[in-house]
Amino acid sequence: MKGLILSGGKGTRLRPLTYTSAKQLVPVANKPVLFYGIEAIAEAGITEIGIVVGDTQAEIRAAVGDGSRWGVRVSYIEQDAPRGLAHAVKISRPFIGDEPFVMYLGDNLLNRGITRFVEEFERERPAAQILLAHVPDPQMFGVAQLSEGRVVRLVEKPKEPIGDLALVGVYMFGPEVFTSVDRISPSFRNELEITDAIQDLIDRGLTVRPHIVSGWWKDTGKLEDMLEANRLILETFERRIDGTVDAESRVEGKVVIEAGAVIERSIVRGPAVIGRNAKIVQAYVGPFTSIMNDVDIRDSEIEHSIVLEGSSVHDLASRVADSLIGRNVRIYRAPVKPSAHRFMLGDNSEVGIRW
Ligand code: DAU
Repeated sequence: MKGLILSGGKGTRLRPLTYTSAKQLVPVANKPVLFYGIEAIAEAGITEIGIVVGDTQAEIRAAVGDGSRWGVRVSYIEQDAPRGLAHAVKISRPFIGDEPFVMYLGDNLLNRGITRFVEEFERERPAAQILLAHVPDPQMFGVAQLSEGRVVRLVEKPKEPIGDLALVGVYMFGPEVFTSVDRISPSFRNELEITDAIQDLIDRGLTVRPHIVSGWWKDTGKLEDMLEANRLILETFERRIDGTVDAESRVEGKVVIEAGAVIERSIVRGPAVIGRNAKIVQAYVGPFTSIMNDVDIRDSEIEHSIVLEGSSVHDLASRVADSLIGRNVRIYRAPVKPSAHRFMLGDNSEVGIRW
């Protein structure tokens, strides 16, 4: 079996971060989202992985390399534009050949991996196996209708409600799907939808097995989902302190402090992670916060947030919360009083808050 990870696309819902960076490389608990997918596929015993890339391919190639770090071989498949998930499958045919494969959307995260789904698929060998999860906002996803445990209908981003079972971004296919991706036409959003290709498999009388996932699943395409995925992953961390903590600081609960990080006169309350060479001085880092390498937090408070490499937060009077701060962002105190802070800042931004 082969693996196919989709890491092209535009990432419009995470702008401005995605103007300068691939959405699949935004870190969750200090690790790019994409790496969780690679790990899940490698863990399922699959060693040949194709990654579909678009405009951000240079950055993705630089981050992932040849895959040897995970004991897999990675090939890159170039997609000229985000023409849809089924289009990505279509152009991957030369890589996949006639083998069955698992397709993993590069911005998805599943807490329990995919090994047992892959085993189940190989045992039963249907034309496709899809994973489903109950969601409160089904209009944001592909949605499946089941009847007597079988998939009978699939609709992408349904305008009229047809149920709450969303398609999770992990699919298993036999080569039968290549005929279906050739038979469908572009959708209302002008994409070749994998949802329509799976519907075509059903229409051709082939078996599409559903599996409702019991653990958590997140599509990290939006800020809120990113923060929630960050929270869920940080909760699984074990305490580890490799950096330096001075006698006046308190580090409470599940906290990872990487080597070279320095904590002075501060409180870090887990679950949280502080990256390499980060500096936390006279500050409070609260639960569910991921601070990346080389970040500098001084005389400020932050919680339930993600801060990317090289950014600084200095002298803020009120706490930063629920924020995703890009790379090399500077946030500092300015003369006129601020009443609230709520950020979603892109890479290289600079914000001066009136005091
Ligand atoms: O997350 C699950 C949902 O993913 C499913 O419920 C939907 O049925 C499915 O269509 C998909 O919906 P999204 O609108 O969230 O897909 P998105 O455009 O975010 O693309 C998913 C991933 O695939 C993302 O990492 C970008 C990549 N991609 C996307 C397109 C359209 C490509 O590599 N090439 C593409 O042409």
